Amino acid sequence: MQNRKFFLDESDIPKQWYNLAADLPTPMQPPLGPDGKPVTPEMLAPVFPMNLIEQEVSTKRWIDIPEEVLDILYRWRPSPLRRAVYLERFLKTPAKIYFKDESVSPAGSHKPNTAVPQAWYNKQFGIKRITTETGAGQWGTALSLACNLMGLECKVFMVRISFDQKPFRKMIMGVWGANCVASPSTETQAGRDILAQMPDTPGSLGIAISEAIEAAVTDKTGQTRYALGSVLNHVLLHQTIIGLEAKKQLKIAGEKLPDIVIGCAGGGSNFAGLAFPFVYDKINGAKMEIYPVEPESCPKMTKGPFVYDHGDTAGMTPLLPMHSLGHTFIPEPIHAGGLRYHGMAPLVSQAVVEGLCTPKAYGQMKCYEAAMTWAKTEGTICAPETSHAIACVIDEAVKAKDEGKEKVILFNYSGHGLMDLVGYDKYLSGQLSDYALPDSDVKKFQSSFANFPKPEVKKTGKW
Ligand SMILES: Cc1ncc(COP(=O)(O)O)c(C=O)c1O
Repeated sequence: MQNRKFFLDESDIPKQWYNLAADLPTPMQPPLGPDGKPVTPEMLAPVFPMNLIEQEVSTKRWIDIPEEVLDILYRWRPSPLRRAVYLERFLKTPAKIYFKDESVSPAGSHKPNTAVPQAWYNKQFGIKRITTETGAGQWGTALSLACNLMGLECKVFMVRISFDQKPFRKMIMGVWGANCVASPSTETQAGRDILAQMPDTPGSLGIAISEAIEAAVTDKTGQTRYALGSVLNHVLLHQTIIGLEAKKQLKIAGEKLPDIVIGCAGGGSNFAGLAFPFVYDKINGAKMEIYPVEPESCPKMTKGPFVYDHGDTAGMTPLLPMHSLGHTFIPEPIHAGGLRYHGMAPLVSQAVVEGLCTPKAYGQMKCYEAAMTWAKTEGTICAPETSHAIACVIDEAVKAKDEGKEKVILFNYSGHGLMDLVGYDKYLSGQLSDYALPDSDVKKFQSSFANFPKPEVKKTGKW
């Protein structure tokens, strides 16, 4: 009989995170300040605690996971590796489809993998309160959980459209003691400015980030810092526990390396968490296709250039070298709220520039169709973000069938969709449609980074 679940003993949990910055063929280009010069750790100190800033700039390959962080992660980690045999049968594919089930965390997604260490490092540094943004609400709930376990206060700015569409997530944040408001809000200058220009805006992650940073740096006690749920190097680092576990579990399943690795990509963290330990193998000669999947309505990697741009709408963050649609771009209110972000993590962007990863874009309708196929075969209801990965998995499994190849496909099941049923309901009642960002809009928002310095496009061309 074919096993469908592959577990690791708690004692086999990875004890170190993997840092891709140590192995990228070309070194990462630094974030830049308003003067165009590289930012120093001291310049980031009002925003993040210094212990996390050290991780952000580290090029050490392995970084120890603190014992107390592991002690909290054991609540749900190691997460299971599962094989989607029911989907395989339905598709009549010779491909073997494995997925890391990150929906088993208390918050229902991969986000607590970084929320817990971020809260822990803040606490070590003497911080009492953390501010953040959230799109779909997954990150906000994850940070609320982590702050609650760590005895820290938590303030969440939630993108307006998700705040309205997903009321249960803010209730969960309330259970874990966080204070959640819709963004743009009237609590910050950034929020008030946007509301004055666009009173009916659905909001965006870029706006919510501006608000959360402002709330942190203007706190006079000096005991508040900001936490980001994706994009930054230390966030992607914390997520690599997913791929490191998956490697051990694939071995238990009798596999070597996957042929194809897939993850949906908003800011890049769940994709990177699964993929980076395999990007390491690719750099070292393994043959593998690695696909980050984004929505066609917010195609930063497939249509956005690799530039220096702000991570937020108000321009409070340093300039990051990344694929971007422009920091003033406000994506259409698709249901995959966590994918509505204008930029892509610098580490993922550099891996894309190098040709180590090949981005793909999918429309909302195809993703919901894939989510429905998944629900009817595997039985679980995936997050709308995760459905982007599943749509790509199905395409690759069908391709394997057409080619008659027994490929090993691995993807990240980044979260469940039990709080996202409004989107499913709209799909089922025919109220959803596709929206691909037209090229004219891609051009329009590029003016927001036109005058910034340009990163070098470093490509070794080996892949
Ligand atoms: C379930 C789920 N998957 C994916 C994402 C996208 O974020 P990232 O690209 O950082 O993994 C989110 C973001 O909220 C999410 O909630």
